Amino acid sequence: MDLKASIRAIPDHPKPGIVFRDLTTLMGNPEAFAHTCGAMAEAFKSRGVTHVAGIEARGFIFGAAVADRLGCAFVPVRKAGKLPSETLRRSYALEYGEDTLEIHKDALPAGAKVLLLDDLLATGGTARATAELIREAGGEVLSAAFVVELEGLPGRAKLEELSLDVWSLTQFK
Ligand code: PRP
Ligand code: HPA
Repeated sequence: MDLKASIRAIPDHPKPGIVFRDLTTLMGNPEAFAHTCGAMAEAFKSRGVTHVAGIEARGFIFGAAVADRLGCAFVPVRKAGKLPSETLRRSYALEYGEDTLEIHKDALPAGAKVLLLDDLLATGGTARATAELIREAGGEVLSAAFVVELEGLPGRAKLEELSLDVWSLTQFK
């Protein structure tokens, strides 16, 4: 199916010159959503994934569905202050300022093989901080997987610097 056609482009959002790839239209199309989650699960079904780590907020939507298809655990990586038990935390740079992500300290057992999953890879700061958290929690990051990769931004390079395998279902220039 033409997955890219199910992703709406919003010109000049959030500021002039940026074309925002809006995945709510993909989520709102049952065929496209099932195709997306099915293709991601299919790509990793033989890799021995024990946990899918989804990044708040949009990584939860795809990550939970992929974990269900893989028959493995789901681990939420959340914005600061949301997780109730003891956490590990990492701050990362945004265009203006910074943000912080957390994972529960005990989220991953020894030997966990983790699929990091998010809706979109842009500059890579969010996924990089998440990969560091997974490793600090004792997990092995098998791959960092995205529904959309924005090429022309340094996201892939930033993750490959950490020797991470980077996988994306669709790419936009
Ligand atoms: C978006 C997107 C990714 C991240 C990608 O999330 O869902 O998580 O940005 O950007 P990066 O590669 O430049 O780090 P956002 O921070 O907007 O949070 P949200 O999912 O809560 O809307
Ligand atoms: N779409 C969705 N999320 C984003 C984008 C985008 O184009 N750029 C950075 N985060």
